[in-house]
Amino acid sequence: MNMLELIEKKRDGGALTREEIEFFVSGVTGKTIPDYQISAFLMAVLWRGMSDEETTDLTLSMAHSGDVCDLSSIPGMKVDKHSTGGVGDKVTPILLPIVSSFGIPCVKLSGRGLGFTGGTIDKFESIEGFSTTVEPGSFKEKIEKYGLLLGGQTEGLAPCDKYLYALRDVTGTVPSIPLIASSIMSKKIAGGADAIVLDVTCGSGAFMKDRTQAEALSRQMISIGKLANRPVSCVLTSMEQPLGRNVGNILEMQEALDTLRGHGQKDVETVVLALACEMLRMTPEYKDHSDAELQALCKEKITSGAAFAKFEDLVLSQGGKLDSSGSPIFVDEPFEVMTVFADRDGYVSSCDALMVGEASCLLGAGRMEKTDVIDMGAGIRLQKKIGEKVTRGEPLYSLYTGSQNTVGDERIDEALAKMQQAYRISETPCEALQEILGVIRD
Ligand code: URA
Repeated sequence: MNMLELIEKKRDGGALTREEIEFFVSGVTGKTIPDYQISAFLMAVLWRGMSDEETTDLTLSMAHSGDVCDLSSIPGMKVDKHSTGGVGDKVTPILLPIVSSFGIPCVKLSGRGLGFTGGTIDKFESIEGFSTTVEPGSFKEKIEKYGLLLGGQTEGLAPCDKYLYALRDVTGTVPSIPLIASSIMSKKIAGGADAIVLDVTCGSGAFMKDRTQAEALSRQMISIGKLANRPVSCVLTSMEQPLGRNVGNILEMQEALDTLRGHGQKDVETVVLALACEMLRMTPEYKDHSDAELQALCKEKITSGAAFAKFEDLVLSQGGKLDSSGSPIFVDEPFEVMTVFADRDGYVSSCDALMVGEASCLLGAGRMEKTDVIDMGAGIRLQKKIGEKVTRGEPLYSLYTGSQNTVGDERIDEALAKMQQAYRISETPCEALQEILGVIRD
């Protein structure tokens, strides 16, 4: 078998055998296939797709490309959550403490930013001292002590996905259903979760641009879950505009803290609560509870401070620093470069998530190349969102960099141009967007 033949077979629309897929995965993991051939293969998959069998073989082979965690000695149902990627997605830092405050063990394995979307690992690393390197060997001890942990992908866990993920990010090969499904599900299977809740984002700022694609991705991941004996539930969420009002690592963490303190944005809370309900319902204790009951219980965890206390536990247990009020100490402070004001009266009819995500990357909040260092303070604050009334002279959005402008004025100008494209103001009223588009279960 050789890699060139595999690339040509996929390029011409052929279906790969399990042996061929295993050859590819072990070549990536063992670093015997050069990046140019891996990239060509990924591009061929993006264009030609993969059958259900190929996608499942790829997932299982990637899941077993390194260590597979066995969390069976930790009592209780271990439910993991993952998002297919979005802009302004600060769900995990809120959701994890809420679910953990019910006494449910939460082992969350997250990723870094990919393309124009942000990554949870990058966000947590904006907290001084926070380490996302948790070796699978210490999962049990950490969970027993604190009830939750947030890990990045260690060298040993699904190493093939780790390598492909970084390469896809810089070769335009992210938005492919088989590649996204196998990437997510391989990590979840290797991470040892008993059940998985997926936030399948849909819209301009997601990899799935429309509902049909989002449903196809959901069904693909549910079918992989069935084969791997893990119940999967998918919540379809809108990503036409960013979630919440802040995009960028520190800005988003600050906004997440607002929700945990009970005064967050409605759209953020709606998405978090929908996912929390799905996670709780996966456990025997809450499987028969209604959405209304579970939402009330989750809200009570916020108002009582129980969820915030869990967030503090999480930060401290992973080396992060908190100030005397329990707020994390961040590695930098966002610096407002400029605020843009409305030039007319009207209603916001577009705040395009893709454009905002790209603008945020240009400001330094994401990576353009594999080796780029993120500016944790960079990002965008959205003062107005779709459906909101705006009066001439009111602030629409503000651009931020870290305390040092690491990108230069030309990139700031480019970001501003993207933001100008992102926003539309119409004379007639527009409806606010619906955050939850549906739920697809096993
Ligand atoms: N999240 C992942 O873990 N992988 C993808 O490919 C996309 C989103």
